[in-house]
Amino acid sequence: MLVGWGGNNGTTITAALLANKLKLSWETKEGVKHANWFGSLVQASTVKLGTNGGEDVYVPMSSMLPMVDPNDIEVDGWDISSMNLADAMQRAKVLDINLQKQLKEHMVNVKPKKSLYYPNFIAANQEDRADNVVLGSKTEQLNAIRKDISEFKSSKKLDKVIVLWTANTERFTEIIPGVNDTADNLLKAITEDQPEISPSTMFAVASALEGCTYINGSPQNTFVPGAIELAARYKTFIAGDDFKSGQTKLKSVLVDFLVSAGIKPVSIVSYNHLGNNDGFNLSAPQQFRSKEISKSNVVDDMVNSNQILYKPGEKPDHCVVIKYVPYVGDSKRAMDEYTSELMLGGHNTIVIHNTCEDSLLASPIILDLVLLAELCSRITFKPADLPEEAFSGFHSVLSILSYLCKAPLVPKDSPVVNALFKQRTAIENILRACLSLPAENYLLLEHRLPLKF
Ligand SMILES: NC(=O)c1ccc[n+]([C@@H]2O[C@H](COP(=O)([O-])OP(=O)(O)OC[C@H]3O[C@@H](n4cnc5c(N)ncnc54)[C@H](O)[C@@H]3O)[C@@H](O)[C@H]2O)c1
Repeated sequence: MLVGWGGNNGTTITAALLANKLKLSWETKEGVKHANWFGSLVQASTVKLGTNGGEDVYVPMSSMLPMVDPNDIEVDGWDISSMNLADAMQRAKVLDINLQKQLKEHMVNVKPKKSLYYPNFIAANQEDRADNVVLGSKTEQLNAIRKDISEFKSSKKLDKVIVLWTANTERFTEIIPGVNDTADNLLKAITEDQPEISPSTMFAVASALEGCTYINGSPQNTFVPGAIELAARYKTFIAGDDFKSGQTKLKSVLVDFLVSAGIKPVSIVSYNHLGNNDGFNLSAPQQFRSKEISKSNVVDDMVNSNQILYKPGEKPDHCVVIKYVPYVGDSKRAMDEYTSELMLGGHNTIVIHNTCEDSLLASPIILDLVLLAELCSRITFKPADLPEEAFSGFHSVLSILSYLCKAPLVPKDSPVVNALFKQRTAIENILRACLSLPAENYLLLEHRLPLKF
């Protein structure tokens, strides 16, 4: 169930699920295109299983363990805009028109459920969209969301419901003792209609109470301490924050490469301009601030890993700029300049210009988050020497999904890993462990000996 279903990501992932399920093809000026899942770690990447006769053997990640088939996913969701999904897909201007024409009949009669609109959390420029909102006290609103979840689950005879926030970026919530610092205080604050509870946190509470996994695809601090405690109490899973789709994904590769090569990045400057509704919302200072915070810490673990290059506390200059330029629509531009110090006073400047539809990057990530979170909810493990009763599932904060998140949420006192290939290796090795395969370590000693045995 998507919060923000009528948005660019919400309509694009829905269209992608339908297009793949219906095996659609459509004509473009470059020829006929076929539905696929390019950009999805689970659906479109492979994992090395081992070697056969000296040759590496790769298998699709999706085939390693029994995972949900995307064709078996049912979608529903909420939006403060009542527009039907076909018109919303058209409004998003993401998909080719010939694909939209084929999808229209499947989406035109679908409307998002009413959602929670607290104007003080998203940009004032979103007000015109808000024609589909649940009124009443916070308790009534919470109950309405819970009812939506349970009715969807029973009417479609679903095994599990996962709720994912892909609605607009909210401002940060203030952490107030007595309001959102503990699970009990948060529940009490809802009954008292406290204003400092965001819609995204309300959905987190509803999800925990309904036993659902909840994923936050936006940068704001939805997971206030009370919401984290509530998920642990109800043994539900949470993950976030903010989809790691384009610029940040590249940053978490490039800075890892530079620092681990012994090169010292000293200045990282990232400009973006985009013209979709996300960009419009981010043009307001408080919402931009949420994005800026989420984008700013992504190099910390890599910098801290190398005290030859950096003194304790030293960091590269890191500046993030986002501008709203309506004409470019969803086709976001990201321009990055990385300046590094080389030996003997030399400098190296790398400049990257990236143009692509933002929602076509984010939608496969939404699918991956859902498929992996669902899989993780079925995995249990224990130290080898402990009895059967010691088996337990993952911590309710699913840090294993960090690969897909810009500002990974991790259990208290756990290290935050941003480096992309460390994050991917963690996923790969957990899947391998479930198959009783050793972790992949690339020792390759069998190929490094002078003699063959
Ligand atoms: N596209 C990407 O690559 C990407 C990457 C990282 C993060 N994100 C985040 O994903 C979110 C969605 O992006 P988008 O491009 O789809 O934006 P969008 O503006 O097109 O869609 C957001 C939708 O949320 C709705 N909405 C706002 N508040 C709501 C509420 N309280 N309840 C229900 N619906 C609500 C809006 O009406 C809109 O339809 C943004 O926060 C964005 O920052 C996107």
